[in-house]
Amino acid sequence: MKRIGLLTSGGDCQALNAAMRGVVKGMSESTRDLEMYGFLNGYKGLIYGNYKLLTSADFSGILTKGGTILGSSRQPFKLMRVPDENGLDKVKAMKQNYYKLNLDCLVILGGNGTQKTANLLREEGLHIIHLPKTIDNDIYGTDVTFGFQSAINIACDAIDCIHTTAASHDRVFIVEVMGHKVGWLTLYAGMASGADIILLPEIPYDIDKIVDGIEKRKKAGKGFTILAVAEGAISKKDAKLSKKELKKKMENYTYPSVSYEIADMINKKTGIEVRVTVPGHTQRGGSPCPYDRVLCTRLGAEAAKAIMDEDYGHMIGMVNGKVKRVPLGEVAGKLKMVKPDSQIIKEAKYTGISFGD
Ligand code: F6P
Repeated sequence: MKRIGLLTSGGDCQALNAAMRGVVKGMSESTRDLEMYGFLNGYKGLIYGNYKLLTSADFSGILTKGGTILGSSRQPFKLMRVPDENGLDKVKAMKQNYYKLNLDCLVILGGNGTQKTANLLREEGLHIIHLPKTIDNDIYGTDVTFGFQSAINIACDAIDCIHTTAASHDRVFIVEVMGHKVGWLTLYAGMASGADIILLPEIPYDIDKIVDGIEKRKKAGKGFTILAVAEGAISKKDAKLSKKELKKKMENYTYPSVSYEIADMINKKTGIEVRVTVPGHTQRGGSPCPYDRVLCTRLGAEAAKAIMDEDYGHMIGMVNGKVKRVPLGEVAGKLKMVKPDSQIIKEAKYTGISFGD
């Protein structure tokens, strides 16, 4: 008899259902005696005891379905040790609900914040398996996270569509891609769609270098320019500010997002009108792409194996192309960022892509 809990936490992405299906399919092949509980809306469900008993039928037909059948919510890690508005000790409550259901293991699907809480629960003695979800691809210890490839496809489609209209009208366009702290999604979507300038949080930009890039293209007879800009792109000037100074700047910030500020700066320096497109949460929506479906089936299968082996406390990741059990304690709290001197950045630059640095 195996009793497992499942929960999906943080911002959603396309392949959460595919991953849960992988775990359940894998376990169903190994044991006939399986009891599954789905906690609703992430850690909230675990804290407040909102769950439902699931059967294999609940995981049927969901390989291609976006979103999450369990619902999700953001429960910041830094508030986990802070009692809720009614004085409830959240960690104690999560442990109580786990033990009340007599679970053998809790399978937690989520990104960085979710992973930190998963590790906290592991340290508290619960049996945990974590599956790395996020369109941001910023989870340390795995080559790739699920959701990333699906989101690249969407962001890339958005830039492709902008490309044709920009070319027709000889316009400068910014497409803002998700990613506040890391630029993987912007880098891949930008490279895949032939963006001319790519701005990432990891490589602070100089507005004059961006203008140079646009003018250089003009001189070469290319009237349009496409910029792929990460939500967290930052200027060299702002990167030098202290946290306090940056906070002060943001208090008086009037632009809807960083792309509008960059558009305004380009306009002021060149007189060129710059259009901004923000695909936003479309990047997290819709069906998972085939790559993510396969990835999730593989990660899910290994998660099931680890549970059958009673080998807990791991993130199931992809390491150098191989599915691997990665100890949670070794990776929780670390961020995988784009390295400005990495091979891919050098190659992109070599083909003429500007990073505005
Ligand atoms: O972490 C995934 C992510 O989609 C980020 O890329 C994005 O900045 C953020 O979540 C958006 O969060 P929310 O859905 O809470 O607006």
